[in-house]
Amino acid sequence: MTSSNAEQPPYLVPGGPRTASRYDYLLGGKDHLRDDRASGEALAAAFPDIGIAVRELRRFMHRAVRYLVAEAGIRQLVDIGVGIPKPPNVHDIAHRYAPDTRVVYADHDPVVMAHARALLTPAAGCAPLDYLEADLRHPDAILASPAVRSLDHDQPVGLLILAVLHFITDDEHPGNLVRALLGGLPPGSHVAISHTTFDPLPAEIRANLDRLAPGQHGTFQARTRDQVAALVDGLDVVAPGLVPISHWRPDLNTDGDELAEPAKAAGYAVIARTPSAASGPQRGAGAVAARPAISPQQQVRQ
Ligand SMILES: C[S@@+](CC[C@H](N)C(=O)[O-])C[C@H]1O[C@@H](n2cnc3c(N)ncnc32)[C@H](O)[C@@H]1O
Repeated sequence: MTSSNAEQPPYLVPGGPRTASRYDYLLGGKDHLRDDRASGEALAAAFPDIGIAVRELRRFMHRAVRYLVAEAGIRQLVDIGVGIPKPPNVHDIAHRYAPDTRVVYADHDPVVMAHARALLTPAAGCAPLDYLEADLRHPDAILASPAVRSLDHDQPVGLLILAVLHFITDDEHPGNLVRALLGGLPPGSHVAISHTTFDPLPAEIRANLDRLAPGQHGTFQARTRDQVAALVDGLDVVAPGLVPISHWRPDLNTDGDELAEPAKAAGYAVIARTPSAASGPQRGAGAVAARPAISPQQQVRQ
């Protein structure tokens, strides 16, 4: 799967699938058009478990937000690559544990941001939300935006880059983008990443995916475990490390559903952080102690 038009962002190519609404289709949502469905069906024909894979991406979002807010004590989140709203959304989960959590929602797709502004609104008594139309490939613009600048720069931020980095090619240096963003945020800030991989897929499924017509499904780059590890190189990785997505703290699931096998989930998940002046939870009462960071050796053994 490659870009159909290098000059034009894929979400603006007339008649093409949009990443966000194809994901919505695969999740069983209702905000998608014919080309999103056609692309989603082609992907499902190549990889019949894709419905499980996208559900596992979404479930990790739920657990990551719960971890960041309820365990790491973070009260400011920047969600880059929001997707079409599907409750519970990031702020719904964050406000369940801490209603004062600030959330900045960012996406490069203006249609996604229109949905976000209309549908992602805080309940009474909860912190207001911010909306930012921005591209992950321009971290300086994100950091300089009024929404991000208005965060408390004496407190850590939880950066969510979930199911997005596989749309960034190696030429665009995804690891540098992650480090640039974290480098502009306060010490102790965390990044949560989920990423599609073909590592556990049977050869037949990989061959099916490789045969998908280039240019019809947008830019996409699945990565190996080592390639995903490189995205958090130099950061402190939080336990349980970089693991198959459904294995990342399944104890934080609240839906009671079974764990998906790695060969069906086809993803990795990791949360990492920059060192903070004092280790442990960054914010006050009610925060449960964050799990310790683990060494790169432990990370590789996971
Ligand atoms: C698959 S959805 C993920 C939604 C959500 N993060 C989740 O995990 O459920 C990917 C989202 O990333 C957005 N996206 C893709 N590339 C992006 C980029 N370069 N900058 C900002 N957003 C991007 C798409 O528009 C889409 O809304």
